[in-house]
Amino acid sequence: MSRALLRGAARGAISPLLRGGSGAPPGLRPAAARRFVIDMSYSAHFMDFQGSFVGVNASDINYSAGRYDPSAKPPFDAGFEGVGEVVGLGLSASSRYTVGDAVAYFGGGAFAEYTLVPAAESVPVPAAEPQFLALPLSAATAYIALKRLGELAAGETVLVTAAAGGTGQFAVQFAKRAGCHVIGTCSSDEKAGFLKSIGCDRPINYATEDLARTLRAEYPRGVDVVYESVGGAVLEAAVNSLAQKGRLIVIGFISGYQTASGVPAFRGATLPAKLLQKSASMRGFFLPHFLDDYKEALASMMQMLARGQLVCELDRGDLAPGGRFVGLDAVYRAVDYMYAGKNLGKVVVELAPTPVSNKL
Ligand SMILES: NC(=O)c1ccc[n+]([C@@H]2O[C@H](COP(=O)([O-])OP(=O)(O)OC[C@H]3O[C@@H](n4cnc5c(N)ncnc54)[C@H](OP(=O)(O)O)[C@@H]3O)[C@@H](O)[C@H]2O)c1
Repeated sequence: MSRALLRGAARGAISPLLRGGSGAPPGLRPAAARRFVIDMSYSAHFMDFQGSFVGVNASDINYSAGRYDPSAKPPFDAGFEGVGEVVGLGLSASSRYTVGDAVAYFGGGAFAEYTLVPAAESVPVPAAEPQFLALPLSAATAYIALKRLGELAAGETVLVTAAAGGTGQFAVQFAKRAGCHVIGTCSSDEKAGFLKSIGCDRPINYATEDLARTLRAEYPRGVDVVYESVGGAVLEAAVNSLAQKGRLIVIGFISGYQTASGVPAFRGATLPAKLLQKSASMRGFFLPHFLDDYKEALASMMQMLARGQLVCELDRGDLAPGGRFVGLDAVYRAVDYMYAGKNLGKVVVELAPTPVSNKL
Protein backbone atom coordinates (compact mmCIF):
# COMPACT_ATOMS: atom_id res chain seq x y z
CA MET A 1 0.00 0.00 0.00
CA SER A 2 1.34 3.42 -0.88
CA ARG A 3 2.24 5.97 1.71
CA ALA A 4 -0.61 8.13 0.40
CA LEU A 5 -3.13 5.34 0.98
CA LEU A 6 -1.79 4.63 4.42
CA ARG A 7 -2.02 8.30 5.23
CA GLY A 8 -5.53 8.37 3.90
CA ALA A 9 -6.50 5.49 6.13
CA ALA A 10 -4.90 7.13 9.12
CA ARG A 11 -6.63 10.41 8.42
CA GLY A 12 -9.93 8.59 8.04
CA ALA A 13 -9.39 7.00 11.40
CA ILE A 14 -8.67 10.24 13.11
CA SER A 15 -10.98 12.59 11.28
CA PRO A 16 -14.09 12.06 13.44
CA LEU A 17 -12.10 13.30 16.39
CA LEU A 18 -10.96 16.33 14.48
CA ARG A 19 -14.44 16.98 13.10
CA GLY A 20 -15.84 16.76 16.61
CA GLY A 21 -13.49 19.53 17.65
CA SER A 22 -12.07 18.28 20.87
CA GLY A 23 -12.85 14.60 20.58
CA ALA A 24 -14.66 14.79 23.91
CA PRO A 25 -16.89 11.80 24.61
CA PRO A 26 -20.66 12.26 24.21
CA GLY A 27 -22.12 14.02 27.22
CA LEU A 28 -18.85 15.67 28.11
CA ARG A 29 -18.49 19.32 27.24
CA PRO A 30 -14.77 19.77 26.67
CA ALA A 31 -14.51 23.34 27.87
CA ALA A 32 -15.97 22.38 31.23
CA ALA A 33 -14.46 18.94 31.44
CA ARG A 34 -11.54 19.73 33.63
CA ARG A 35 -13.78 21.29 36.27
CA PHE A 36 -16.67 18.92 36.76
CA VAL A 37 -17.47 15.57 35.35
CA ILE A 38 -18.96 12.57 36.90
CA ASP A 39 -21.43 11.46 34.29
CA MET A 40 -23.24 8.36 35.42
CA SER A 41 -24.23 7.55 31.86
CA TYR A 42 -20.71 6.21 31.31
CA SER A 43 -19.88 2.65 32.16
CA ALA A 44 -18.94 2.40 35.80
CA HIS A 45 -15.52 1.10 34.88
CA PHE A 46 -14.47 3.88 32.57
CA MET A 47 -12.90 7.21 33.11
CA ASP A 48 -12.54 10.26 30.92
CA PHE A 49 -9.09 11.30 30.22
CA GLN A 50 -7.46 14.37 28.78
CA GLY A 51 -4.31 13.39 26.94
CA SER A 52 -1.19 15.48 27.39
CA PHE A 53 1.09 13.23 25.34
CA VAL A 54 0.43 10.37 22.97
CA GLY A 55 2.91 7.79 21.73
CA VAL A 56 3.53 6.88 18.10
CA ASN A 57 4.09 3.20 17.33
CA ALA A 58 5.30 1.40 14.25
CA SER A 59 2.01 -0.47 14.15
CA ASP A 60 -0.12 2.65 13.98
CA ILE A 61 -0.06 2.27 10.20
CA ASN A 62 -1.04 -1.40 10.44
CA TYR A 63 -3.95 -0.43 12.63
CA SER A 64 -5.01 2.41 10.35
CA ALA A 65 -4.75 0.10 7.34
CA GLY A 66 -7.25 -2.24 9.04
CA ARG A 67 -4.78 -5.07 9.64
CA TYR A 68 -5.41 -5.40 13.35
CA ASP A 69 -9.12 -5.88 12.96
CA PRO A 70 -10.02 -6.51 9.31
CA SER A 71 -13.72 -6.29 10.16
CA ALA A 72 -13.35 -2.67 11.33
CA LYS A 73 -14.29 -0.15 8.66
CA PRO A 74 -13.07 3.47 8.76
CA PRO A 75 -13.70 5.74 10.46
CA PHE A 76 -12.37 4.18 13.67
CA ASP A 77 -10.19 5.69 16.34
CA ALA A 78 -6.43 5.25 16.12
CA GLY A 79 -3.53 5.53 18.57
CA PHE A 80 -2.42 3.01 21.18
CA GLU A 81 -1.21 4.92 24.22
CA GLY A 82 -1.27 8.16 26.11
CA VAL A 83 -0.44 9.89 29.35
CA GLY A 84 -2.59 12.65 30.74
CA GLU A 85 -5.06 13.71 33.40
CA VAL A 86 -8.36 12.22 34.54
CA VAL A 87 -11.19 14.66 33.94
CA GLY A 88 -14.15 12.47 34.87
CA LEU A 89 -14.90 9.09 36.39
CA GLY A 90 -17.37 6.27 36.22
CA LEU A 91 -18.57 4.79 39.48
CA SER A 92 -16.04 2.05 40.20
CA ALA A 93 -13.17 3.97 38.58
CA SER A 94 -13.73 6.64 41.25
CA SER A 95 -12.56 4.19 43.93
CA ARG A 96 -9.12 4.19 42.25
CA TYR A 97 -8.80 7.66 40.81
CA THR A 98 -9.84 11.22 41.38
CA VAL A 99 -10.15 14.02 38.88
CA GLY A 100 -6.72 15.49 38.16
CA ASP A 101 -4.80 12.24 38.70
CA ALA A 102 -2.06 11.51 36.19
CA VAL A 103 -2.56 8.28 34.30
CA ALA A 104 -0.79 6.39 31.52
CA TYR A 105 -2.71 3.88 29.47
CA PHE A 106 -2.44 1.37 26.69
CA GLY A 107 -5.62 1.03 24.64
CA GLY A 108 -7.37 2.09 21.46
CA GLY A 109 -8.30 5.60 20.36
CA ALA A 110 -5.40 7.47 21.93
CA PHE A 111 -5.09 10.04 19.13
CA ALA A 112 -7.68 12.33 20.67
CA GLU A 113 -7.68 15.21 23.08
CA TYR A 114 -10.25 13.39 25.24
CA THR A 115 -10.47 9.62 25.45
CA LEU A 116 -12.62 7.20 27.38
CA VAL A 117 -10.27 4.72 29.03
CA PRO A 118 -11.23 1.52 30.86
CA ALA A 119 -9.80 1.92 34.36
CA ALA A 120 -8.33 -1.60 34.08
CA GLU A 121 -6.16 -0.49 31.13
CA SER A 122 -4.67 2.43 33.01
CA VAL A 123 -1.68 2.87 35.26
CA PRO A 124 -1.38 5.66 37.82
CA VAL A 125 1.81 7.66 37.26
CA PRO A 126 3.40 10.43 39.32
CA ALA A 127 2.83 13.11 36.66
CA ALA A 128 1.43 13.45 33.15
CA GLU A 129 4.94 13.55 31.76
CA PRO A 130 6.06 11.89 28.56
CA GLN A 131 8.65 9.52 30.02
CA PHE A 132 5.79 7.53 31.59
CA LEU A 133 4.30 7.09 28.15
CA ALA A 134 7.06 4.73 27.13
CA LEU A 135 6.25 2.19 29.85
CA PRO A 136 2.77 0.77 29.15
CA LEU A 137 3.53 -0.46 25.63
CA SER A 138 7.12 -0.09 24.40
CA ALA A 139 8.88 -0.99 27.65
CA ALA A 140 6.28 -3.57 28.71
CA THR A 141 6.78 -5.39 25.40
CA ALA A 142 10.52 -5.68 26.01
CA TYR A 143 10.16 -6.58 29.68
CA ILE A 144 7.56 -9.31 29.24
CA ALA A 145 8.87 -10.75 25.96
CA LEU A 146 12.39 -11.17 27.29
CA LYS A 147 11.17 -12.51 30.61
CA ARG A 148 8.60 -14.97 29.29
CA LEU A 149 10.11 -16.01 25.97
CA GLY A 150 13.77 -15.03 26.18
CA GLU A 151 14.75 -17.21 29.15
CA LEU A 152 17.86 -15.06 29.49
CA ALA A 153 20.79 -16.33 31.49
CA ALA A 154 23.75 -14.25 32.62
CA GLY A 155 26.60 -14.44 30.14
CA GLU A 156 24.40 -15.09 27.12
CA THR A 157 24.54 -12.97 23.99
CA VAL A 158 21.44 -11.03 22.96
CA LEU A 159 20.86 -9.31 19.63
CA VAL A 160 18.32 -6.47 19.58
CA THR A 161 17.23 -5.05 16.20
CA ALA A 162 15.87 -1.48 15.87
CA ALA A 163 17.69 -1.16 19.18
CA ALA A 164 17.61 2.64 19.50
CA GLY A 165 13.83 2.89 19.01
CA GLY A 166 10.79 2.89 21.25
CA THR A 167 10.85 -0.72 22.37
CA GLY A 168 14.42 -1.66 21.35
CA GLN A 169 16.03 0.71 23.88
CA PHE A 170 14.28 -1.17 26.69
CA ALA A 171 15.22 -4.58 25.36
CA VAL A 172 18.85 -3.47 25.41
CA GLN A 173 18.59 -2.31 29.02
CA PHE A 174 16.68 -5.34 30.31
CA ALA A 175 19.07 -7.77 28.61
CA LYS A 176 21.99 -5.89 30.12
CA ARG A 177 20.38 -6.03 33.57
CA ALA A 178 20.12 -9.79 33.13
CA GLY A 179 23.90 -9.93 32.75
CA CYS A 180 23.97 -10.53 29.00
CA HIS A 181 26.30 -9.30 26.30
CA VAL A 182 24.12 -7.07 24.11
CA ILE A 183 24.41 -6.32 20.39
CA GLY A 184 22.11 -3.65 18.96
CA THR A 185 21.39 -2.64 15.36
CA CYS A 186 20.74 0.94 14.27
CA SER A 187 21.21 3.19 11.26
CA SER A 188 23.40 6.07 12.43
CA ASP A 189 26.48 6.83 14.50
CA GLU A 190 24.40 9.05 16.77
CA LYS A 191 22.12 6.13 17.55
CA ALA A 192 25.16 3.88 18.06
CA GLY A 193 26.51 6.40 20.60
CA PHE A 194 23.18 6.39 22.41
CA LEU A 195 23.19 2.59 22.49
CA LYS A 196 26.64 2.63 24.08
CA SER A 197 25.36 5.06 26.70
CA ILE A 198 22.61 2.64 27.79
CA GLY A 199 24.97 -0.31 28.07
CA CYS A 200 24.91 -1.91 24.61
CA ASP A 201 28.21 -3.74 24.21
CA ARG A 202 28.29 -3.81 20.42
CA PRO A 203 26.16 -1.32 18.52
CA ILE A 204 26.11 -2.17 14.80
CA ASN A 205 25.35 0.74 12.52
CA TYR A 206 24.12 -1.26 9.53
CA ALA A 207 24.43 1.82 7.30
CA THR A 208 28.20 1.48 7.55
CA GLU A 209 28.71 -2.18 8.57
CA ASP A 210 27.24 -5.29 7.02
CA LEU A 211 25.09 -6.92 9.70
CA ALA A 212 25.36 -10.55 8.59
CA ARG A 213 29.11 -10.33 8.00
CA THR A 214 29.75 -8.61 11.33
CA LEU A 215 27.75 -11.22 13.22
CA ARG A 216 29.57 -14.09 11.48
CA ALA A 217 32.99 -12.55 12.11
CA GLU A 218 32.53 -11.40 15.69
CA TYR A 219 30.10 -13.99 17.05
CA PRO A 220 31.15 -17.31 15.50
CA ARG A 221 29.37 -19.27 18.28
CA GLY A 222 26.17 -17.39 17.43
CA VAL A 223 23.75 -15.37 19.54
CA ASP A 224 21.56 -16.94 22.18
CA VAL A 225 18.56 -14.63 22.00
CA VAL A 226 17.27 -12.26 19.32
CA TYR A 227 14.68 -9.52 19.97
CA GLU A 228 13.70 -9.02 16.32
CA SER A 229 11.55 -6.15 15.06
CA VAL A 230 12.56 -5.61 11.43
CA GLY A 231 11.87 -8.79 9.44
CA GLY A 232 12.96 -9.63 5.87
CA ALA A 233 16.72 -9.70 5.32
CA VAL A 234 17.40 -8.73 8.94
CA LEU A 235 15.35 -11.66 10.17
CA GLU A 236 17.26 -13.95 7.81
CA ALA A 237 20.58 -12.68 9.15
CA ALA A 238 19.31 -13.15 12.70
CA VAL A 239 18.17 -16.73 12.05
CA ASN A 240 21.53 -17.55 10.50
CA SER A 241 23.31 -16.12 13.53
CA LEU A 242 21.45 -18.19 16.13
CA ALA A 243 23.56 -20.25 18.50
CA GLN A 244 22.71 -23.79 19.48
CA LYS A 245 19.45 -23.69 21.50
CA GLY A 246 19.05 -20.04 20.48
CA ARG A 247 15.67 -18.31 20.87
CA LEU A 248 14.49 -15.76 18.33
CA ILE A 249 11.54 -13.65 19.49
CA VAL A 250 9.47 -12.17 16.67
CA ILE A 251 8.47 -8.74 17.96
CA GLY A 252 7.57 -7.20 14.61
CA PHE A 253 8.55 -6.85 10.96
CA ILE A 254 8.57 -3.14 10.32
CA SER A 255 10.38 -3.47 6.97
CA GLY A 256 7.11 -4.78 5.51
CA TYR A 257 4.54 -2.51 7.13
CA GLN A 258 4.47 -0.08 4.20
CA THR A 259 3.85 -2.80 1.62
CA ALA A 260 0.41 -3.91 0.43
CA SER A 261 0.49 -7.14 2.46
CA GLY A 262 2.21 -5.60 5.47
CA VAL A 263 4.62 -8.56 5.53
CA PRO A 264 8.16 -8.43 4.14
CA ALA A 265 9.51 -11.19 1.90
CA PHE A 266 11.26 -13.95 3.81
CA ARG A 267 13.07 -16.95 2.34
CA GLY A 268 11.79 -19.50 4.79
CA ALA A 269 12.11 -22.84 3.00
CA THR A 270 15.27 -23.75 4.86
CA LEU A 271 14.01 -22.47 8.21
CA PRO A 272 12.92 -25.87 9.66
CA ALA A 273 16.34 -27.33 8.83
CA LYS A 274 18.16 -24.37 10.36
CA LEU A 275 16.13 -24.55 13.57
CA LEU A 276 16.49 -28.31 13.82
CA GLN A 277 20.24 -28.30 13.25
CA LYS A 278 20.69 -25.89 16.14
CA SER A 279 17.77 -26.99 18.36
CA ALA A 280 16.82 -23.35 18.05
CA SER A 281 13.35 -21.83 18.20
CA MET A 282 11.38 -18.89 16.88
CA ARG A 283 8.67 -17.51 19.10
CA GLY A 284 6.05 -14.87 18.38
CA PHE A 285 5.15 -12.26 20.96
CA PHE A 286 2.10 -9.97 20.98
CA LEU A 287 1.67 -7.85 24.09
CA PRO A 288 -2.14 -8.13 24.44
CA HIS A 289 -1.69 -11.89 24.89
CA PHE A 290 0.44 -11.37 28.01
CA LEU A 291 -1.72 -9.10 30.14
CA ASP A 292 -1.38 -11.45 33.13
CA ASP A 293 2.23 -10.29 33.34
CA TYR A 294 1.37 -6.67 32.97
CA LYS A 295 0.90 -5.59 36.59
CA GLU A 296 4.21 -7.00 37.76
CA ALA A 297 6.02 -5.60 34.74
CA LEU A 298 4.67 -2.09 35.26
CA ALA A 299 5.37 -2.10 39.00
CA SER A 300 8.92 -3.30 38.44
CA MET A 301 9.63 -0.76 35.70
CA MET A 302 8.17 2.12 37.71
CA GLN A 303 10.51 1.14 40.52
CA MET A 304 13.52 1.08 38.18
CA LEU A 305 12.54 4.48 36.82
CA ALA A 306 12.17 5.97 40.30
CA ARG A 307 15.62 4.63 41.22
CA GLY A 308 17.20 6.07 38.10
CA GLN A 309 17.89 2.56 36.76
CA LEU A 310 15.94 2.91 33.53
CA VAL A 311 16.51 5.35 30.69
CA CYS A 312 13.35 6.31 28.78
CA GLU A 313 14.73 8.13 25.76
CA LEU A 314 12.07 10.18 24.01
CA ASP A 315 12.04 11.78 20.60
CA ARG A 316 9.66 14.72 20.50
CA GLY A 317 10.63 15.73 16.98
CA ASP A 318 12.85 18.68 17.84
CA LEU A 319 15.15 17.78 14.92
CA ALA A 320 12.34 16.76 12.55
CA PRO A 321 11.41 18.82 9.51
CA GLY A 322 8.71 21.13 10.86
CA GLY A 323 10.01 20.89 14.40
CA ARG A 324 8.58 19.47 17.61
CA PHE A 325 5.50 17.26 17.30
CA VAL A 326 2.67 19.25 18.85
CA GLY A 327 -1.05 18.74 18.24
CA LEU A 328 -2.97 15.86 16.66
CA ASP A 329 -1.98 16.92 13.13
CA ALA A 330 1.66 16.27 14.07
CA VAL A 331 0.92 12.53 14.32
CA TYR A 332 1.30 12.24 10.52
CA ARG A 333 4.68 13.93 10.58
CA ALA A 334 5.77 11.80 13.49
CA VAL A 335 4.84 8.58 11.65
CA ASP A 336 6.80 9.69 8.56
CA TYR A 337 9.76 10.61 10.73
CA MET A 338 9.77 7.16 12.34
CA TYR A 339 9.47 5.43 8.96
CA ALA A 340 12.43 7.43 7.70
CA GLY A 341 14.38 5.79 10.54
CA LYS A 342 15.13 9.18 12.09
CA ASN A 343 13.82 8.65 15.60
CA LEU A 344 16.13 8.11 18.50
CA GLY A 345 13.99 6.76 21.34
CA LYS A 346 10.25 6.66 21.72
CA VAL A 347 8.34 8.99 19.38
CA VAL A 348 6.03 11.26 21.36
CA VAL A 349 3.46 13.85 20.29
CA GLU A 350 2.39 16.56 22.69
CA LEU A 351 -1.25 17.51 22.49
CA ALA A 352 -1.91 21.22 22.41
CA PRO A 353 -3.85 22.27 25.50
CA THR A 354 -7.58 22.65 24.82
CA PRO A 355 -8.64 26.24 25.40
CA VAL A 356 -10.88 26.51 28.48
CA SER A 357 -13.37 29.36 28.57
CA ASN A 358 -13.35 31.04 31.96
CA LYS A 359 -17.01 31.95 31.49
CA LEU A 360 -18.06 28.33 31.93
N1 LIG B 1 4.74 -7.56 19.41
C1 LIG B 1 4.32 -6.53 20.13
O1 LIG B 1 3.47 -6.64 21.02
C2 LIG B 1 4.94 -5.18 19.82
C3 LIG B 1 4.74 -4.08 20.67
C4 LIG B 1 5.39 -2.89 20.37
C5 LIG B 1 6.19 -2.78 19.23
N2 LIG B 1 6.31 -3.87 18.42
C6 LIG B 1 7.18 -3.84 17.23
O2 LIG B 1 8.42 -3.32 17.59
C7 LIG B 1 9.02 -2.72 16.45
C8 LIG B 1 9.47 -1.31 16.80
O3 LIG B 1 8.31 -0.54 17.03
P1 LIG B 1 8.40 0.91 17.72
O4 LIG B 1 7.02 1.45 17.71
O5 LIG B 1 9.13 0.79 19.01
O6 LIG B 1 9.25 1.72 16.64
P2 LIG B 1 10.70 2.35 16.81
O7 LIG B 1 11.67 1.26 17.08
O8 LIG B 1 10.65 3.52 17.72
O9 LIG B 1 10.92 2.94 15.36
C9 LIG B 1 11.11 2.08 14.28
C10 LIG B 1 12.61 1.89 13.97
O10 LIG B 1 12.75 0.73 13.18
C11 LIG B 1 13.98 0.80 12.47
N3 LIG B 1 13.83 0.27 11.13
C12 LIG B 1 14.55 -0.76 10.64
N4 LIG B 1 14.16 -1.05 9.41
C13 LIG B 1 13.20 -0.19 9.08
C14 LIG B 1 12.41 0.00 7.91
N5 LIG B 1 12.56 -0.76 6.81
N6 LIG B 1 11.50 0.99 7.92
C15 LIG B 1 11.34 1.76 9.00
N7 LIG B 1 12.06 1.60 10.16
C16 LIG B 1 12.98 0.64 10.18
C17 LIG B 1 14.39 2.28 12.46
O11 LIG B 1 15.55 2.38 13.28
P3 LIG B 1 17.00 2.21 12.60
O12 LIG B 1 16.95 3.13 11.40
O13 LIG B 1 17.95 2.67 13.64
O14 LIG B 1 17.12 0.76 12.22
C18 LIG B 1 13.22 3.00 13.13
O15 LIG B 1 13.66 4.07 13.92
C19 LIG B 1 8.00 -2.80 15.32
O16 LIG B 1 8.26 -3.93 14.54
C20 LIG B 1 6.70 -2.98 16.08
O17 LIG B 1 5.70 -3.59 15.32
C21 LIG B 1 5.71 -5.04 18.69
